[in-house]
Amino acid sequence: MSRLIVVSNRVGPLKDTGRAGGLAVALVDTLTATGGIWFGWSGEVSEEGTFGNLKREGNRKVSLVTLDMTQADHDEFYVGFANESLWPVLHYRLDLAAFDRRLEEGYRRVNARFAARLRPLIEPGDTIWVHDYHFFPFGAELRAMEVNNPIGFFLHIPFPPPEVLAALPSAATMVRRMLAYDVIGFQTTRDAANFRRFVTEELDLVEGADESFLVDGRKVVARAFPIGIDAAGFARQATTVEARRQTHRLEKLLAGRQQIIGVDRIDYSKGLPQRFRAFERLLEDYPENRGHVSLMQVAPPSRSELDAYADIRSELEELAGNINGRFADLDWTPIRYMTRGFTRRSLAGIYRASRIALVTPLRDGMNLVAKEFVAAQRAEDPGVVVLSRFAGAAETMREALIVNPYSAEGVAASLQTALNMPLDERRDRWQAMFDRICENDAAAWSRAFLDTLAAARR
Ligand code: G6P
Repeated sequence: MSRLIVVSNRVGPLKDTGRAGGLAVALVDTLTATGGIWFGWSGEVSEEGTFGNLKREGNRKVSLVTLDMTQADHDEFYVGFANESLWPVLHYRLDLAAFDRRLEEGYRRVNARFAARLRPLIEPGDTIWVHDYHFFPFGAELRAMEVNNPIGFFLHIPFPPPEVLAALPSAATMVRRMLAYDVIGFQTTRDAANFRRFVTEELDLVEGADESFLVDGRKVVARAFPIGIDAAGFARQATTVEARRQTHRLEKLLAGRQQIIGVDRIDYSKGLPQRFRAFERLLEDYPENRGHVSLMQVAPPSRSELDAYADIRSELEELAGNINGRFADLDWTPIRYMTRGFTRRSLAGIYRASRIALVTPLRDGMNLVAKEFVAAQRAEDPGVVVLSRFAGAAETMREALIVNPYSAEGVAASLQTALNMPLDERRDRWQAMFDRICENDAAAWSRAFLDTLAAARR
């Protein structure tokens, strides 16, 4: 197996601290099997930035190699172009997108600098796997430095149709530069089809067989590789002492009442205000749930440098306050909203104590919370997933109750169905999803991607 170099903005940790996302854990497993490097941003801002020393951790087999950024890099590349231009556009939110040439130049500069610093570490047999929207032009930068290794790219977030993407002034340049990769992976068949449509309609290339294009005599595959979780590992987390302690604590507190759980970074793509309103509608339209059903929303803040993120946070606080003020009773609080984070084990325990996972993003690449909730359930008494049709997960989790997150009535009706779903039906739906999540886990995902990358070059 060839040595692997993974490139992403956020990296690691190499050792599972319990707080790392499931994806990080899965990538470390893949790297441990192949040997290699995980290359990206150190998380630090310094005066030398990308001209400073490389930071290294780990051992000879797998190492984490990172670089600082300058304040200007951070503001233009990360906060600016990645999160103020690309993130909203790719989540279909042109109303929130800012386009500014200075930000875009920062993005190009950081991509070029990171590629230049990785270049000397690349050996002839290496396979390079670049991740997410921070690094669209990274492959093209490497090719310009005569890197002929297999280079793949995986996009973790949605890819909108050409009608939306074309609003980004540099969309055509960006997509053309992506064709430097050998394989371009997406979360869903819809995202992959949107990309291929852009290439055919806006770049005038003809699509070939097997979801591919011929670019200067080289085959470029653009296909869906829906990401999975470490299902068996997460199911095990749910039975650890730490998880069981959380399950018991919550069950004692709930005393027979039902809990709906939501876990999301605070982000406008997650549909959190709409979710709170849908829960309020549940209490209005089905008053028998008052005093008996609560919503626990775990929402760690993120990207708070940006107004759109700060705005959503204050909106949520106000909404939760209003709904609680209106409906709370002596022994029952309708919404428990917390911005603290939890370890993966604790989360697994919290999922187990919850009857419903409410996963209602307005747009989401995949959404791993939906999958982790399923993995954490008790087979004999599993909970129900209420899932947005606009989450990538809806393409494969067909036994969830699929909802339109913009419809408070629709979400409330599905919550009511979930709360009253007979045990047999809950079990049938859960089993089908659980089996599929185990089969298409994170290891299967990286294997499928890397096999396709190896085959594309043959
Ligand atoms: C999404 C993106 C990731 C990103 C994460 C957290 O999941 O796909 O690339 O790392 O959000 O966002 P942040 O801006 O804190 O890295």
